[in-house]
Amino acid sequence: MKKISASFLSSKNIPMDLTKLNDTDVDFIHVDIMDGKFVKNKTMPFSEMKNIYKYTSKRLEVHLMVENPSKYIPQYAELNTECIMFHIESSEDIIKNLELIKSFSIKCGLAINPDTKVNELIPYLPHLDQILVMSVYPGEGGQEFIKESENRIKEIRELINSYNLDILIDVDGGICDTVLDKVEDADILTAGSYIISGDNYQEKITSLR
Ligand code: DX5
Ligand code: ZN
Repeated sequence: MKKISASFLSSKNIPMDLTKLNDTDVDFIHVDIMDGKFVKNKTMPFSEMKNIYKYTSKRLEVHLMVENPSKYIPQYAELNTECIMFHIESSEDIIKNLELIKSFSIKCGLAINPDTKVNELIPYLPHLDQILVMSVYPGEGGQEFIKESENRIKEIRELINSYNLDILIDVDGGICDTVLDKVEDADILTAGSYIISGDNYQEKITSLR
């Protein structure tokens, strides 16, 4: 059974949505962080974001869409965090940042954009617990799943298997019940607008498993 991670990026009322998600069996809360440089949009500063602990007891998966992950990693490592993922396209030393995440005893992952070649992951594979395959261009919620992601997910699964590694595949962007046949190789599905656009969050979550 797949694990489900809920993104609240498109939420109009974060305390309310997190409280509602807390009553579901969702596995993780997916925390999207944007710096206004790596992507156009910017999310609230850590001083505000850290208050999410008041509304959720779920473990967090942190997705850093930022140029300088090293600035954010120590902050988000302080929360109830299962995994921190940053982009392979970010500007800093990747191995150093993966090691920085691990120094907090937190799982580490790399996110990969739709246009980045899958082979670029190869040098980092031995360091990774998780790969976040972007199935939309990062920056905002509510976009449509890019169909080519299906092949990329399969390619990444084959790559992991060929090195005999144990790395989870998380898919992020445009996830809804109609794309499930395209994400069969995923271990974790991250969904935002699909879950929080309706009233019954549990029903939506169950439909994705
Ligand atoms: C996109 C974010 C995603 C997004 C998911 O930049 O990384 O996590 O919020 O939202 P939906 O499911 O609406 O595409
Ligand atoms: Zn995300």
